[in-house]
Amino acid sequence: MNEVFYNIITRRSVRKFADSPVPDDILEEILTAGLYAPSAMNTQPWLLTVVRHPEKLESLRKAIAKALDRPDYHKFYGAPVLVIVTVPADYRHGIADTACVLENMFLAAHAENVGSVWINQLKDCCNDPEVRSILTSFGIPEDHVCYGCGAFGYADGDIPTDRVNKGKINYVP
Ligand SMILES: Cc1cc2nc3c(=O)[nH]c(=O)nc-3n(C[C@H](O)[C@H](O)[C@H](O)COP(=O)(O)O)c2cc1C
Repeated sequence: MNEVFYNIITRRSVRKFADSPVPDDILEEILTAGLYAPSAMNTQPWLLTVVRHPEKLESLRKAIAKALDRPDYHKFYGAPVLVIVTVPADYRHGIADTACVLENMFLAAHAENVGSVWINQLKDCCNDPEVRSILTSFGIPEDHVCYGCGAFGYADGDIPTDRVNKGKINYVP
């Protein structure tokens, strides 16, 4: 089977990560794959903010939990790396471009045996004052919003491999 196709069909979201860090060269490869994503009119509007420091991840987790009134909000499933994808708020294709970046990174990660999962909650609270002040402290421009993040790390345990996805192709006879 073609390696690229195999990589696509075997990628799964990981929701339990081991503590082991992602080596810098592999992380760099994952981020570069994100930067090579397609974007509307080749705008490349994104900024990829990489958060690895456990205390910074925890402060962000706490702020999200508070903003969304979800006291038990998980710490990005224990992932050692969170990549916050942001785009200018007034850019029309931000959601689509963000999705392309994230999927490129997920596939690049999977090719290196690194697990990943989309983290969606910043979409609903990136302008909450406490969350925003943390994003600002991370160097994210005030006029950027977040439509999705990626959590990355080595899976702790097995990842499900099967997925039913039938009846989703409509060939016009
Ligand atoms: C727009 C979007 C938002 C998502 N948000 C989350 C999330 O916040 N937390 C999570 O655990 N998974 C999230 N996911 C992952 C999906 O649940 C997952 O991709 C789906 O269940 C299919 O499983 P698979 O990725 O293993 O193929 C999100 C996926 C997408 C595309």
